[in-house]
Amino acid sequence: MRTISSTKELIAARSELKGSVGLVPTMGALHNGHLSLIKQARMQNDNVIVSIFVNPKQFLPKEDYERYPRREEADQKICTLSGVDIVFMPQSDDIYTQIEPEILAPKNLAYILEGESRPGHFDGVLRVVLKLFNLVRPTNAYFGKKDAQQLYLIQNMVKTLFLSVNIVPCDIVREADGLAMSSRNGYLTQSEKEQALALSIALKNASQAIMKGERDANKVELIMLEALKDLKVDYAKVLSRDFDPRETIVIKETILLIAAFVGKIRLIDNLWI
Ligand code: PAF
Repeated sequence: MRTISSTKELIAARSELKGSVGLVPTMGALHNGHLSLIKQARMQNDNVIVSIFVNPKQFLPKEDYERYPRREEADQKICTLSGVDIVFMPQSDDIYTQIEPEILAPKNLAYILEGESRPGHFDGVLRVVLKLFNLVRPTNAYFGKKDAQQLYLIQNMVKTLFLSVNIVPCDIVREADGLAMSSRNGYLTQSEKEQALALSIALKNASQAIMKGERDANKVELIMLEALKDLKVDYAKVLSRDFDPRETIVIKETILLIAAFVGKIRLIDNLWI
């Protein structure tokens, strides 16, 4: 496995690769969720590139950019053991310059839900993802369904900018107790981890009600809120998979989305129905 930190070197290495290339973009602090993306990329491509870059442009000024976990050595070991061909770990000043076109995510999609609490976050995500796509020219790029809104905005960018990359959505990976894996789970104390289970319980209760025949989106939102009653809830929503409000649940077209604070830590989770 090669570790590359300069964009120039990456472009040169990429031009030597034969066959398909799978890209797994990450911000590091790799966990089993990332591993499942890497495994899928490994199975489906001749070459696998993992990018590890804590992207400053997607953090708001008061967010955790500085303290976001950085575990470069451990991440590289995980990549070696998982059969990754290239790990790309750039510095910020190699990715961004002072003068460059702005990439702005569509306002109607990027300023709701996550974007309402984190205005501008998705502009930063799309900006770095587009740069990574241009650098790596991947055949396939792997993103977790846990960041459902991010995934949808990336799919929309690929479609509307006519990018030739296939986006592969990957299932959420959970701890045995149901907690969705996230690099930010490391911020939680043991008792906060227990409180955080309310998110997956809310989704489970909602899906059980739907399985029993409930189709009223408002009622399902109330079921989620009941399970989340001890947390500060940012949103608990039933939406169509293209993020439009729905009054009635349609199976295979719906997504349940939650964001809630456990102490000071904001967690998200979702379920595709
Ligand atoms: O999901 C993430 O880890 C990041 O938002 C991504 C896609 C790597 C862009 O920085």
